[in-house]
Amino acid sequence: MTLINVQVAKVTQEAEGIRSFLLAKKGLFKLPPYAPGAHIDVHCGEGIIRQYSLCGDGKDRRHFQIAVRQVHPSRGGSDLMHSAVKEGDWLEIGSPRNDFPLDETAAHTVLLAGGIGITPIIAMSDRLHALGRSFVLHYVTRSVTHTAFRDRLCNSGYGDKVRFHEGLPAAERDAVIRSALSDPVSGGQVYMCGPGPFMDAAESVALEYWPADAVNLERFAANAAFSGAPTHAFQMRLSRTGLTLDVAADETILSVLDANGISAAFSCEQGVCGTCVTDVIEGDPDHRDSFLSPKQRCAGKQMCLCVSRAKGLEIVLDL
Ligand code: FES
Repeated sequence: MTLINVQVAKVTQEAEGIRSFLLAKKGLFKLPPYAPGAHIDVHCGEGIIRQYSLCGDGKDRRHFQIAVRQVHPSRGGSDLMHSAVKEGDWLEIGSPRNDFPLDETAAHTVLLAGGIGITPIIAMSDRLHALGRSFVLHYVTRSVTHTAFRDRLCNSGYGDKVRFHEGLPAAERDAVIRSALSDPVSGGQVYMCGPGPFMDAAESVALEYWPADAVNLERFAANAAFSGAPTHAFQMRLSRTGLTLDVAADETILSVLDANGISAAFSCEQGVCGTCVTDVIEGDPDHRDSFLSPKQRCAGKQMCLCVSRAKGLEIVLDL
């Protein structure tokens, strides 16, 4: 994929542990257009690539804005973005990709953000407001000081549609999530984004009240429900070459491909980004990702090679 060079024009401390980065394109050509929900790959340095949602002014074709929460412990990306990247630095980024697209025609939209999950959600609320659509935004954070973009949301022109839920104990937070999702609207859509525990709570409640194809979510981290889940050995057959490879219980499909010199695209290795999604020709995938939608998982036609496995003893992949 062609990389784009951008200069860090501005770094802003948006909340405790959260910085935004305004990335400027210099020269003749503008930045590619994108729709709300899109993200970019950011080459953070030291060979680390991370995905960050675009949260700035979608009409500004000279700048992209992203926001990064410093994670403890960090796998490297957020540390680099917070400690090494400064105004004036140059970064390489990929073109926008959108795995979390917004249905702009929904009868009503419920937006639910937890913490740094506000980044794709704020782009959606800006867009829905610009289109004059019916929506509400619930924004759950650990405290007022952890609430990024608070002033921007209050001054957005749609402040009356924003509900801040700050510093709630877990039980009250869960009650807020249930109340936000318990009144489904025919033809409506729900979009949610946030850290793992928030998403685990929100996804199950949303699916109690809304049809699966109205529930759209984006996770930032691996789904904790799969950590430590039992695994078994299986074989994968690569349909293009006919090659059959063993995947031991403690290996991933991606690691076996790599060990055998077969290249496959990947990035997060956590089942979050979707870079490694591959078509399944035969067999039942044992989905352990957070990327595919409930509908896609049920269909079983695609799987994430980095974390997902086979339910049976063999799976045939379009590789
Ligand atoms: Fe990101 Fe597999 S590499 S989902």
